Amino acid sequence: MAAPFSEGVGTKVPLTLRFSTVAGESGSPDTNRDPRGFAIKLRTSKGIWDWVFNNTPVFFLRHVQLDWIINRYSRTIQGSHQVGLVAASSTLPTSATDSLCSFTVRNAIQRPIFAPQLFNGFIFAVVINFFLIFSTRDYWSQNQEAIGQVMRLFSNRGTPKSWAQMDGFSGHTFKFVTASGSWHYVKIKATSKQGIENFNATTALQLAASNPDYLTQELRERIDAGNFPTWEVGIQTMTLEESKKFPYDVNDLTKVWPEDQFPVQPVGNIVLNKNPQNWFAEIEQLAFSPGNLPPGVEPSNDPVLQSRIFSYPDTARHRLGPNHLEIPINCPVSVNNFQRAAWMRVDGGAGNLAPSAPNYPSSFASPVRYAPRPYDLSMIADPLEGPALVKASYKLSPKDFEQPNQLFNKEFSDDERSSMIANVITALNSVTVNQVKQRSLDMFACVDPAIAQKIGAGIGLKASSPLSCGK
Ligand code: HEM
Repeated sequence: MAAPFSEGVGTKVPLTLRFSTVAGESGSPDTNRDPRGFAIKLRTSKGIWDWVFNNTPVFFLRHVQLDWIINRYSRTIQGSHQVGLVAASSTLPTSATDSLCSFTVRNAIQRPIFAPQLFNGFIFAVVINFFLIFSTRDYWSQNQEAIGQVMRLFSNRGTPKSWAQMDGFSGHTFKFVTASGSWHYVKIKATSKQGIENFNATTALQLAASNPDYLTQELRERIDAGNFPTWEVGIQTMTLEESKKFPYDVNDLTKVWPEDQFPVQPVGNIVLNKNPQNWFAEIEQLAFSPGNLPPGVEPSNDPVLQSRIFSYPDTARHRLGPNHLEIPINCPVSVNNFQRAAWMRVDGGAGNLAPSAPNYPSSFASPVRYAPRPYDLSMIADPLEGPALVKASYKLSPKDFEQPNQLFNKEFSDDERSSMIANVITALNSVTVNQVKQRSLDMFACVDPAIAQKIGAGIGLKASSPLSCGK
């Protein structure tokens, strides 16, 4: 295991976990169809390690063009505005439990990025401020590498029955490095010991109307009753040599590493045994970043991960201020950074440093220096060719439909298969632009013509022939 747990077997670290939905903002119903956020702040003896995970092993995109879809979620709320590579801000989380766990709704705030595919939807969102179902369907049908995540979302997995009854996944590839500089690619998975259970679309909708805070309440009551939710944490590992034989890019966030080839090796447990005392102090003010990594854990070259490393602290500066790391819930034992002033600076200037400590690595006062890494970064660089190459852009290929086909035919239960088809039919019947419906149907035909036949019967269309499927 990586350095943060080098104290050995049996090491315990306190953590805070915040659950979330993605598309809705503060106050939106917990049971809406959506991926779920699964963000954990581990307070290791070597520093904070944030696991900013989702309840799905893949994501809608594998490249930084992804901020198109993040933009899609935007509304003109609170007049906020951020510009940047993938800069975005969250709205206020709603309610929560902690040790620590919670529910927060996050939402990217409008940014002036003009993506041709979304241009119409984007402008509508600015002008009329309502949620545009059309533009998500449009985006997905034009960025079909999203299909694996879309299929999970539209099966009943998109409406989990409890925050405790879903798994958490890093999605991204990270690297675990030993002191001598040897390393593996790693993905992390938290498997629910409560098992997976989901609502069907009807119950999820009813609950959204009758109790928008349903999942938050359920989790709080579960923990208050001493029925502590538990997850087994496991890692999948891959060597550089194995990655060269892997049929997909090791950094492609739209692909899973099959568990029969890369088994999940158990390394620990997460137990949620405490609700927060003060929701605002302990939950609302949390700030996570996938870039908060202790020594021995390094990010991969996954472009989406690299973009997130910029985006989250940027958001936190906007939402909580430049001194958000000093807020106790985010704070390691001491904060050593170059931030000396600005909003919410309530101490002498820099944690345990002299107030006069310069805001740059200096030889004056208490000099601030970066902690040395135990290994040379050049030892862990990805090769610049082969499957681990970071691609400037990915082109859709027939390979992008292989795992979705396996997902539907081998992994999904009968219930997931039928719920996905029924929910996709409902979703596409709400789209008024025929071209988007046709492209969406063709996308499913690339996964499996039998799926497209069933969906087509429900929306009154037939899949195109011939299909391109990225050929
Ligand atoms: C380019 C892609 C992405 C961008 C730009 C992005 C951006 C953001 C931003 C700005 C927030 C709000 C953070 C805050 O309020 O402090 C957020 C929240 C979150 N994102 Fe992402 N995200 C991306 C992809 C992902 C992926 C792939 C995952 C999971 C594997 C993920 C998991 C989460 C979680 C769990 C939260 C809620 C964290 C919390 O509770 O504060 N995001 N995202």
